[in-house]
Amino acid sequence: MASELTIRKPDDWHVHFRDGAVMRAVLSGTTEHFARALVMPNLVPPVVTMNDAVAYRERIVASLPDGSDFTPMMTLYLTEATDADDVERAYKSGAITAVKLYPAGATTNSDSGVTDVARVAPVLERMAEIGLPLCVHGEVTDPSIDIFDREAIFIETVLDPMRQRTPGLRVIMEHVTTEDGVRYVQSHSENLAATITTHHLMINRNHLFQGGIRPHFFCLPIAKREHHRLALRAAAVSGDGRFFLGTDSAPHVDGAKESACGCAGVYNSPNTMSCLAQVFEEEGALDKLEAFASLNGAAYYGVAPSDETITLKRQDDSVSYQAKVKTEDGDITVFDPPCDLHWSVV
Ligand code: NCD
Ligand code: ZN
Repeated sequence: MASELTIRKPDDWHVHFRDGAVMRAVLSGTTEHFARALVMPNLVPPVVTMNDAVAYRERIVASLPDGSDFTPMMTLYLTEATDADDVERAYKSGAITAVKLYPAGATTNSDSGVTDVARVAPVLERMAEIGLPLCVHGEVTDPSIDIFDREAIFIETVLDPMRQRTPGLRVIMEHVTTEDGVRYVQSHSENLAATITTHHLMINRNHLFQGGIRPHFFCLPIAKREHHRLALRAAAVSGDGRFFLGTDSAPHVDGAKESACGCAGVYNSPNTMSCLAQVFEEEGALDKLEAFASLNGAAYYGVAPSDETITLKRQDDSVSYQAKVKTEDGDITVFDPPCDLHWSVV
């Protein structure tokens, strides 16, 4: 069995850095292992305009750990008031890499999101024209629809009609969690890709309730049945260029997670590469880890993969990792997968 693996430095195509004290505390968890990350815009208030994105990027860069060679890539939060000209300027000036569509109310800080995609059609058409990718949180928000069905129903009732109405629009289904999502991506050869998170490769919905309620496994889209997890694993290890890593690392302080109404989000940046090496080893596909973590996303976004590398090393004893990250606002619990990990980044 391989005991060492060197791959191009990975990129994280979906991360939440937040702002202020939490941002300062979590940045190094990403910059240590990743060359670039696509930074999600769901701050309070959200990152809506080009100026917001430029200012947020400056705050990130100013807080980067000394000596880190890391590139934050920015997104705009699509609202029904978004100005297509501002979006185009932002893209053409290099200030942003993608626009994020949150259905209003679908997840953490999504209140300013879109209630009906018809209302953002002019922006989507402009994006298709200029080749600017749309990252989609793919869940319907109708409370009468079962939470475990919201992704599948979104694909059928929102995503597919939107794509048909907007030919040429480049779409990324963010944090795909279902076999339905995997099949949808596999059955379309153009302008469609998906990110897969670390945790959705490792937990199913039973883990949320194993021996009691497990707030640190709660995220949106929620983890689904085991057959969905297996479909995600198969897609991730397949080498298919349409699937790539977006950790959806989403830090919330423990007080906000361990509560009567706990926030959605799993914080996994620090141990994601250990987790992924474990998953790919279990699947007998360590040779595909580089494609998933370092190559496929870069290719879809049209950038060259990193010139740097990281090396992962296997040990027989399980590796330990920091359980919590301290911030001025409180501790943040790191994703604790339901299996031992044997790989660490050297
Ligand atoms: C994310 C967050 O906390 O910002 N939460 C989550 O459960 N994934 C938002 C998101 O990506 O849906
Ligand atoms: Zn997210």
